[in-house]
Amino acid sequence: MATFINEPAHTFNEYLLIPGYSSSECVPANVTLRTPLVKYKKGEESAITMNIPLVSAIMQAVSGDKLAVALATQGGVSFIYGSQSVENEAAMVKRAKSYKAGFVQSDSNIRPDATLADVIELTERTGHSTLAVTEGGKPDGKLLGVVTSRDYRVSRMDKNEKVESFMTPFDKLIYAYEGATLSECNDIIWDHKLNSLPVISKDGKMRYFVFRKDYDSHKANPNELLDEHKRYVVGAGINTRDYAERVPALIEAGADVLCIDSSEGFSEWQKLTIDWIRENYGDSVKVGAGNVVDAEGFRYLADCGADFIKVGIGGGSICITRETKGIGRGQATALIEVCAERDKYFEETGVYIPVCSDGGIVYDHHITLALAMGADFIMLGRYFARFDESPSNKVSINGTYYKEYWGEGSQRARNWQRYDLGGDKKLSFEEGVDSLVPYAGSLKDNVALSLSKVKSTMCNCGALTIRELQEKAKLTLVSATSIVEGGAHDVIQKDKSSAMK
Ligand code: IMP
Repeated sequence: MATFINEPAHTFNEYLLIPGYSSSECVPANVTLRTPLVKYKKGEESAITMNIPLVSAIMQAVSGDKLAVALATQGGVSFIYGSQSVENEAAMVKRAKSYKAGFVQSDSNIRPDATLADVIELTERTGHSTLAVTEGGKPDGKLLGVVTSRDYRVSRMDKNEKVESFMTPFDKLIYAYEGATLSECNDIIWDHKLNSLPVISKDGKMRYFVFRKDYDSHKANPNELLDEHKRYVVGAGINTRDYAERVPALIEAGADVLCIDSSEGFSEWQKLTIDWIRENYGDSVKVGAGNVVDAEGFRYLADCGADFIKVGIGGGSICITRETKGIGRGQATALIEVCAERDKYFEETGVYIPVCSDGGIVYDHHITLALAMGADFIMLGRYFARFDESPSNKVSINGTYYKEYWGEGSQRARNWQRYDLGGDKKLSFEEGVDSLVPYAGSLKDNVALSLSKVKSTMCNCGALTIRELQEKAKLTLVSATSIVEGGAHDVIQKDKSSAMK
């Protein structure tokens, strides 16, 4: 006979935290959000510890290399989407890994025999006003000069004028050689009152620009998450089908951590994938698995050797899995059960496997609730899709800006590997929708605001660390009527847009 769980499964919205005693030491400035990303043995440290408990979803509309850099700059990790060719995913990982904080690879390059009209077109298309003039216009071609908006006046010049006639030529440029540190480059920028400094190889080939503004922003990001070579930490999604080709390419490209991207993780496919990684790389390659929603699923993936385990089926904002297939579980209930099993597993084995709560974060306080319920970190899709750095298009509708956001199980993403256990290379039905989300600006500003709320609530609970929050948190279920009481009520709100936060 089937097993019945007659207790309803709850969502984040049905819980609140009850404040605990907080001492005068308990202020947001003293809170640390450091958290383990991969498993570790009792008494040891996780091989990767994040500075903030946020990772970005393995989705086409969310995690490209630009977002990966922006999130690592703030202390979290992106998982570059795997629903693209092995070459393209590896190239994205490589771009994010080769992004040296403050050293910008020149995306806008032009040939010396190009015209002013070409310069204007390139500037408008890329938004870059500093162009490297290189041999053949290649990003790694020999540097011949630089063009900035100070070198030409559109109203006074012939659009057919050649770049070489108005660029600042190489013999008049101030530059640095590859190997110079950011602080050395910054000294040159200050000494010569420059806005940008080209960095070239010993044989004169273009490598990077260092911009005055980027040096300042580098100093303003104390949480940035770097590997031992001072490169940003980057994750990548894999599937349970082509891992024999994908994993080596991603590791070669420099991925620090992988995650099996699957809508349902309690399956032999996950074991086969992890086994293959262990046979070929031992424990040196870190791989997360999921998604599961109960203790049994957690145990299975823990025994398979997963480095972290993701929880969540059907709670994603673009997800219609529950409607389509009738599987899933309220995210809060699933998370609480899995985290209890994680703690039990730790007591039994001395191995701590971090748990990631994936999907369903609508309000910032849901992040705090998920952490209080035991999550070590949170994966978010909708949240990050709204930012400048996500790879999706920004569209304007009636004067309001939105970003496109589509599920991996939608026809648009066609990520059949994530859903089709049989290996049929098509999606027979959709489990996700194509949507729009309100555009919200830069990742940095939004993450800072969200985490300031998290820290503030942690202080209300008397907690200065995530671990302390998990130990001290007192959570209460709320009734449907008290949810209504929790929002602004019985007043006419002047600014409806605040309802999005
Ligand atoms: P969100 O943060 O609520 O938008 O949820 C993001 C999460 O939804 C992802 O990390 C995935 O686990 C899940 N997801 C992504 N695409 C789909 C889909 O098409 N159907 C169901 N779930 C999805």
